[in-house]
Parts: sequence; structure tokens; C-alpha cells
Amino acid sequence: MSDPIYSEAIARLEDALERARASGRRNMDAMSLATVDPTGAPSVRHVLLKAIDERGLRFFTDARSEKARDLEGNPRASVCFYWEPIEEQARIDGTVVRLSDEDVAADFAKRPRAGQIMIRVSAQSEPIDTLDTLRAAAAEAEATLPDPVTCPSDWIGFCLVPQRIEHWQGSRDRVHSRSVFTAGEDGWVFSLLQP
Ligand SMILES: Cc1cc2nc3c(=O)[nH]c(=O)nc-3n(C[C@H](O)[C@H](O)[C@H](O)COP(=O)(O)O)c2cc1C
Repeated sequence: MSDPIYSEAIARLEDALERARASGRRNMDAMSLATVDPTGAPSVRHVLLKAIDERGLRFFTDARSEKARDLEGNPRASVCFYWEPIEEQARIDGTVVRLSDEDVAADFAKRPRAGQIMIRVSAQSEPIDTLDTLRAAAAEAEATLPDPVTCPSDWIGFCLVPQRIEHWQGSRDRVHSRSVFTAGEDGWVFSLLQP
């Protein structure tokens, strides 16, 4: 049975996402993802949250990318959302686990064909002489690849399993609220932090 404090933390994240999406602003599902390389150097970039539930937060990427190589060596990661329309932030620290090939293929199948083709032709984070090379590869793939496009083996997915969730809510009087949910040895604990 899941921990009620953890359930509350996930429910709050889902609720904030809903309210942020309802603002009509684009990319409310974008989250900055911080990873660490083998020397301990951090790096951060945005990825799209594709699903959230009590198992964690799911996102997809290319196995050749810097983030994927970082996560292979060190599965600890942090993500951060800032939803400007509702003046809220969420930070989630945890450990990633790789998603199954079936889960990755299921998400890939829901993407628009043009997106699937770019995933097929782009070796993410590898250098390229000119983007025209990529445009030509995409045009050729568009003309030759059958429908549906199959998911390439380099396309992978991760689930960030939370160990700490912080929800920051801005307040006009500057008494911003920071609700923190942390996994402890005896279950999840809640605390309120000063802003
Ligand atoms: C709003 C936004 C959403 C993005 N979503 C993804 C994504 O879901 N997966 C992905 O691999 N890259 C995504 N990117 C591109 C990454 O930020 C990044 O440039 C790319 O993944 C290479 O990162 P890396 O070399 O650090 O691994 C997104 C970029 C932006 C601005």
C-alpha cells in the first residue's frame, strides 16, 4: 500500500500541473533535468514530462545523449518545474530507473510522424557539419519509412523515482510556502520550510 504522505505529494504535483496547463501557456510539462557526470560535474537541460503517477515521473531521450550517459553512470537526478502562470515551483530529487522497451515503444507510437522521424535520424548530441544534412536525412526517411514508424533502439525512457519533493508556492506578502515531502526510513515525512 502506498504511503499517504507520498500520495499527497504526488497528488499536489498532479494538481499543480493541471492548473499550470489550464493557463493555456505552452510547455508547462517541461522540466529542467540535472544529472552528474563521472567527475561530479553537474549539467542541466529541459525534457518533457510524459507521465506522472506514484511510480514516478517519466521522460524519454536518446541513449547517446550526455544526460543518458550521465544517468547510466549515476542514476541520481533532480528535476525542477517553474510554472510562471500560477507562481509555483516543484523540485523532485530521486533515482532513475530505465523504462521497458514496451513502455518506450508505446510512447513513441503516440508521437506525430515528423517527431518520430526526427528521433530516427538525429543522433542526439553528436556533432553535425550542417543542419541541411539532417533535413535531407529526414526528407529521405519521410519518403521511404513505412507507417507506423518503428521505435529505434537508441530511443529510451526513464522513470525518476522521487526521494524528495518540494512544492514552492509564491505569495504576494513574500511569505512563500515550501512544502517538503521526504522519504525516510519509516516512511515519508512532511515538513514546511522557511522561504
Ligand atoms: C521545452 C523543451 C523540451 C525538451 N524535451 C526533450 C525531451 O523530452 N527529451 C530530450 O531528449 N530532449 C528534450 N529537449 C532537448 C534537451 O533540452 C537537450 O537539448 C537534448 O536532450 C540534449 O541534451 P544532453 O546532450 O544534455 O543530453 C527539450 C528541450 C526543450 C527546450
